Amino acid sequence: DQQWRVAVMPGDGIGPEVMAATCRALESLPNLELELEELPWPSHDWHRDQDEMMPADWRDKLSGYDALLLGALGDPGPVTDPNRYYLPDGVSLQPLLEIRKGLDLWACERPAVPMVGAPQYLADPRALETDLLVIRENSEGEYVDQGGRLGVGSERETATQLEVFTRTATRRIIRHAFDRAEQRRRDRQRGLRPLKSFPYGAEQSAQASASVCVVTKRNAVRYSGELWCDVFAEVAADYPHIHTQHELVDACCMKMVTQPWAFDVVVASNLHGDILTDLAAVLAGGMGVAPSANLNPDDREVPPLFEPTHGSAPDIAGSDRAHPAAMLLTAATMLEWMGESDDAAAEAAALLRKAVADDLAEKGMSGRSCTQVGEEIAQRLANTHI
Ligand code: IPM
Ligand code: MN
Repeated sequence: DQQWRVAVMPGDGIGPEVMAATCRALESLPNLELELEELPWPSHDWHRDQDEMMPADWRDKLSGYDALLLGALGDPGPVTDPNRYYLPDGVSLQPLLEIRKGLDLWACERPAVPMVGAPQYLADPRALETDLLVIRENSEGEYVDQGGRLGVGSERETATQLEVFTRTATRRIIRHAFDRAEQRRRDRQRGLRPLKSFPYGAEQSAQASASVCVVTKRNAVRYSGELWCDVFAEVAADYPHIHTQHELVDACCMKMVTQPWAFDVVVASNLHGDILTDLAAVLAGGMGVAPSANLNPDDREVPPLFEPTHGSAPDIAGSDRAHPAAMLLTAATMLEWMGESDDAAAEAAALLRKAVADDLAEKGMSGRSCTQVGEEIAQRLANTHI
């Protein structure tokens, strides 16, 4: 079995609470060689003491780990309290974007599968069959940070914000979406994942049991939309068994609410993916149960960054009231990634996932402190293996 070194970055707000509960659970997993090393950054403390968000050699430091586990970032403070140290979002969230870009973690994966015990926001019972995976392009698009403000404060002020889409980055993310769809198709054939039927395009291969939906706004934002659709068609030709679909992002939001079960893998640009993954999180039971992974699928030497989709929830920070499910499921996602090359990790992932699902189904999401949930999941894991 492999030995794994994980950098634990609790971050701000509820980050330290949900991370403590999660580490408590991770430490009670049997047979797993996991070394959790807590880093005091990127966080509030580092900035207060050093006036930086991360050390200058952050890339070298982080590259030495097998995986990165992050709680949440963002510390807007109560701005009204002059004695309270706080950071504007533009500063405190920067490490997240810098790590994603600097380590070339170009694929962001955010699944949405409804959890029993978490809120069910949609009335249609078919919504419980939702099983979707949003693949978000993580390296360019609307997040390239190019542009500026001219004539700041004047009546003629003009802000420009450039979006950049390269064929290379577009192709690799779309190819990754098809690879994931192909895996899901095989899992469905083996009975490891519920079968899907797709309401549209019945004329397509009757044996298709996985689909990829590409999302653009090509009717108005033309050039990038056209590039995405061209590349999508080229890549799709290599995956004859995968059903394909295109949606405009606005219509996609509507359909994800009215018929979420009709989607399987959804691939979208950085910004469209950002928006769609908040929506997808709600389909699964809300931000409280939404995990997320940032990966470089071409290179397993690059440490992936695992973080919940949720933010630092400063309004409830420090009160031990946040539910750690999203962080726990994020840790399970990390173990699944490790499990691709380590059977002990794969087994640990399944145990943790089941413990969280059972806990939610039996106890729901309210009425217990964050610490208590972590403790009870740890107990459950300890008992599973006796
Ligand atoms: C997310 C977040 C970040 C993003 C913010 C905090 C910069 O919303 O991970 O989805 O936009 O990527
Ligand atoms: Mn987001």
